[in-house]
Amino acid sequence: MHRRGRIEREFDVDAAKYTSSLHFDKEILESVILVNIAHVKLLEKAGIIPSDLAEKAEKHLQEMLKKPPSLDDPRYEDVHMVIEAELTKHVPQIGASLALGKSRNDAVATAIRLRLKERLLNLHESCITFCEALLRKALEEFGTIFPVYTHLQRAAPATFGFVMHSYAVRLLKALQHVKLVYELSDESPLGSAAVAGTSVPLDREYAASLLGFSRVSQNALESTASRDFIVEALSCLSVIVLILSSLSEELVVFSSEEFGLIVFPEEFSATSSIMPQKRNPVVAEIARTKVAELLGLLTSAFMMSARQVSGYNLDLQQITPKLWQALEIIEETLHIMTKLIPSLRVNENRCMATCSPPTGIVEVANYLSLKYGVPFRNAHIFAGKISKLIYEGNLNETSFQRTKAEFNIEVPLTLEDVMNLMEPKRVVRSYATIGSANPTLVKRAVEDSMINLEEEKRWVRNKRTSLEFALNRLKGRISTQKPNNY
Ligand code: ARG
Repeated sequence: MHRRGRIEREFDVDAAKYTSSLHFDKEILESVILVNIAHVKLLEKAGIIPSDLAEKAEKHLQEMLKKPPSLDDPRYEDVHMVIEAELTKHVPQIGASLALGKSRNDAVATAIRLRLKERLLNLHESCITFCEALLRKALEEFGTIFPVYTHLQRAAPATFGFVMHSYAVRLLKALQHVKLVYELSDESPLGSAAVAGTSVPLDREYAASLLGFSRVSQNALESTASRDFIVEALSCLSVIVLILSSLSEELVVFSSEEFGLIVFPEEFSATSSIMPQKRNPVVAEIARTKVAELLGLLTSAFMMSARQVSGYNLDLQQITPKLWQALEIIEETLHIMTKLIPSLRVNENRCMATCSPPTGIVEVANYLSLKYGVPFRNAHIFAGKISKLIYEGNLNETSFQRTKAEFNIEVPLTLEDVMNLMEPKRVVRSYATIGSANPTLVKRAVEDSMINLEEEKRWVRNKRTSLEFALNRLKGRISTQKPNNY
């Protein structure tokens, strides 16, 4: 179908199926139609096609948005061919001109960017919603004692709010990357034609503004054949899924009977078909493994665009669905995790026990240094010996006094002082540095993050308003009022 040019024989049916992108073009169907509406306007503006026919073609293309053509006929190579054929049925003169100055190479490069921009805005919003769930939990639990680990060994008393906030901070940083990828994608390749531009005098700036892009791309070879922006997007998505994966892993580990620090919500757990005592944290298990799927997609995209001679190669076509698959995975994972977070419960007794002496023993060393000027290394060695005695169950008045003498700790420190210094609630209250797990500071940091989140909301609202304004105009749903920020 649609073959002529140099080729005389019909394309082999299986070869057509094998090379077609139709089965994953649905994602860009609307964007491709919009690109074609914009192109018709460009041809009209250049005085190449008459306004009445241009208007007729636009109307038909707008109809197609409401009643999209089927993408099931395997004889078409891709969505671009389907749209051209559809339009040709109704407005043959314009259908026949649709490829004047426009290649599928610049059309697809434009359509992918357009759709990606929409999906990044959705993703940005889903991340915000998830972040809000984390921050709300952090605020609820800002003072709830919870142990933190290094090397998976008990390291220090902290609070559950502190841990939840740490994930929110990671997410907020990842959001900066989402915005960067949005900015990278926010340029219009339309008018680049197949590879080197075109002699058809198309107003590329006009095309960009019609399609809601903030600028035009600067090199036709680059903009038709580079998929770096997809690799960027996939690596940004991988980082988000990586964060979700660490959180999920923590939920799995800390809700196990061995740790028992967290009660994993029943509505997100499954039982075993044979062992009735089981409560498996299945949602978190699936969520933590999604990072591997994402990495697979990122790796594929990397390798598909590596070792290519510049200029469009059909290899590039195969990269696009990786992007949509990754977005699907991340959206469903964010959705379920956002639902799960509010139902998380902390086993407070267990957490207090885990944070009990000697977990906070560094505070004894700090106290000796800060109050009595004992050099920290000496204080650390003394505290280390005390912690050994606690682990062995041998700390009593006699062993305490003996250890003090052994390490020349000649200050009025009693065994009672030592035990008080390690009391988990006191330990967390004593943290003095910004960013520490001191409940008062955690609360303040969470509130600051909420303010940051408001800024993120403003960003996405502004971008969405201007994008929708442009696209609604193209779709024929003309809004009479310009958005404030436009
Ligand atoms: N279907 C292709 C893609 O998704 C666009 C067509 C480019 N084909 C070509 N023969 N130049 O990338």
